[in-house]
Amino acid sequence: MKPIYGIIGCGMMGQEHLRNIALLPEAEVAAIFEPDAGMRAAAAAAVPGALMVDSIEDLLAVEAVNCLLIASPNYLHLAQLEKIAAIRPLPVLVEKPLFTAPEDAPRLAALRAAYPQPIWVAMEYRYMPPVARMISEAEAATGGIRMLTIREHRFPFLHKVGNWNRFNRNSGGTLVEKCCHFFDLMRHILKSDPVRIMASGGQAVNHKDESYDGERPDIWDNAYVIVDFASGARAMLELCMFAEGARYQEEISAVGPDGKIECLVPGPGRFWPPHLGEPPVAQVIVSPRDPKGPRMVEIPVDPQLLEAGDHNGSTFYQHQRFVRAAAGAGDVEVAFNDGWWAVAMGLAAQQSAMTGQAVTLAETAYAPRRK
Ligand SMILES: NC(=O)c1ccc[n+]([C@@H]2O[C@H](COP(=O)([O-])OP(=O)(O)OC[C@H]3O[C@@H](n4cnc5c(N)ncnc54)[C@H](O)[C@@H]3O)[C@@H](O)[C@H]2O)c1
Repeated sequence: MKPIYGIIGCGMMGQEHLRNIALLPEAEVAAIFEPDAGMRAAAAAAVPGALMVDSIEDLLAVEAVNCLLIASPNYLHLAQLEKIAAIRPLPVLVEKPLFTAPEDAPRLAALRAAYPQPIWVAMEYRYMPPVARMISEAEAATGGIRMLTIREHRFPFLHKVGNWNRFNRNSGGTLVEKCCHFFDLMRHILKSDPVRIMASGGQAVNHKDESYDGERPDIWDNAYVIVDFASGARAMLELCMFAEGARYQEEISAVGPDGKIECLVPGPGRFWPPHLGEPPVAQVIVSPRDPKGPRMVEIPVDPQLLEAGDHNGSTFYQHQRFVRAAAGAGDVEVAFNDGWWAVAMGLAAQQSAMTGQAVTLAETAYAPRRK
């Protein structure tokens, strides 16, 4: 099957997807639904051959389309999946987060049971070359991970169409909106599900002087989250969104009885000041306990892929695998349940930070249950 995409939502991230789909020799984009005039013009310029349509219904009516990408604002993802399910269910790559509100769980269960095609949740971090390298070497380097720490020190939230990301009700909250990536990584790396979450977080610095229709943004910009996993491993997330001066954006470390492995990932190269020279290159560092002697390797990313997006080439590698799954020739690597768990962990972390209590996932109404 030649993958022919229909795109739903084509702002900043949708256009990154367009640039990466263009690098796949066999794939093409046939139709785009993007309601904002400016973004629509940019998307049309990027893919001059694509049909620009006015609704999801019109997009699904384009017969050639045989797979979908949803890159609309977070709060629309679930309803758009439901609409697609009702009209013409096709294989779909849906941007994270899969959903935004705790009360959405029954709708998710119904969709999971009824959707007859692959749903792949976009979790780009898994596919960043330095992160993938760290994951592949982690077992040998650590002898079995007992502690996993993910630190993200980055720039504040960017401006979005209609400023949807300034409010928790649209994004799901910071620990859902962006940290679902890191909760997904924790489950993926530790091969276990979370049992209990404790967190502290809030809005310390960013967006406090902004106002939209008289309303001040309520999104958080910093947090600590601790997660206990069923396997006995524990993980921690440290998020700071007023730290863009740092050389590396993500610093991930895993430690076990035999040693430690780390991965240092730079932020988007376009934000690195030219007067400082070339942007930093990702690193993976293995530090055995005995004999001691840390070993560092640089993991450069293909410059063409760096140019095509902000995510260290991962958007390209994810599409490569998604089109195989869409054609029935590969597994769905980030499945519906993975996307659900990642949001549930973010919701639990936010609940913990707001109540000052640890949250046991099995006691929530929003964590996934077995099918
Ligand atoms: N995986 C990642 O690393 C990553 C990075 C950035 C964004 N994202 C995700 O991508 C999605 C889009 O984010 P963005 O940064 O591109 O935001 P954006 O505001 O730049 O783009 C969203 C686009 O959706 C359009 N839109 C609004 N209502 C729509 C509707 N009803 N149907 C279809 N489109 C609609 C908007 O006009 C806008 O152009 C979000 O879910 C975000 O969380 C993921």
